[in-house]
This record gives sequence, structure tokens and C-alpha cells, in this order.
Amino acid sequence: MTSAPAPEIYVCITCRRVGEPETEPCPGALLAAAIERAASGTEVRVRRLRCLANCARGPSAAMRCNGSWTYIFGGLDEENAQALINGARLLATAADGILPWRGRPEILKRGLIARVPPLDFNETDA
Ligand code: FES
Repeated sequence: MTSAPAPEIYVCITCRRVGEPETEPCPGALLAAAIERAASGTEVRVRRLRCLANCARGPSAAMRCNGSWTYIFGGLDEENAQALINGARLLATAADGILPWRGRPEILKRGLIARVPPLDFNETDA
């Protein structure tokens, strides 16, 4: 039996909120910790990194799984951790590698910054 590939969430740990005073730990680090807690006991892998080049619209995170599109989100906070886990698991079950709109957590609709196709993607009618 084959199982769906494990989705991965990349979280920027250096994100700060534009226009707000600096705090320690910074919002990105708090977001990463919340996502790690939410991922505990699931197949979702959480990877910390420094900067997704979405600094003006952070806190930021991205998700993908093997062969899927990559989705980048901004304007996140700790309360969105479970939504990110749910979204990553939804993406892992998408046969076409595209995060479905139906069933997608609300923050993953309004917080979407960009999506990037997988390496082997070819637009058939471009
Ligand atoms: S510091 Fe988080 S995206 Fe740049």
C-alpha cells in the first residue's frame, strides 16, 4: 500500500510585523513554535528557515509535498497553526497537486501570496 507523501511546511522564523514594535521572540518564531505543536503526532514536517522574501506581508509560511504546487502565505499568526496543518494535509491528498479551494481553511484563501508549480510542470495551452 502506498501512502500520500508527507507534506512540508516551511516557516520563516525571522518575520516581524510591519509597522509594529519589535518583540522577542519575534512573531515568526512564535508562529513556527505554534505550527510545530500543531504538527505533533501528524505526518506533517515543519522546517524553520530565515526569510521567504515575503517580509512586507509576514509572518510567512510555505507548504508543499512531493509533486505538488508550492503555496506561500502571509499575514499569519499563531492562531493559524492548525489551519496550516489542515491545509498541508489537504494538499497531500490532492491528486493534481493543487490545494483545493473547497475545504481550504479561510486564512489559506485570504493569506495566499503566491503559488509556484512543481519542477516537471508544463502548461498545456500556454
Ligand atoms: S523575514 Fe520572514 S519573509 Fe523575510
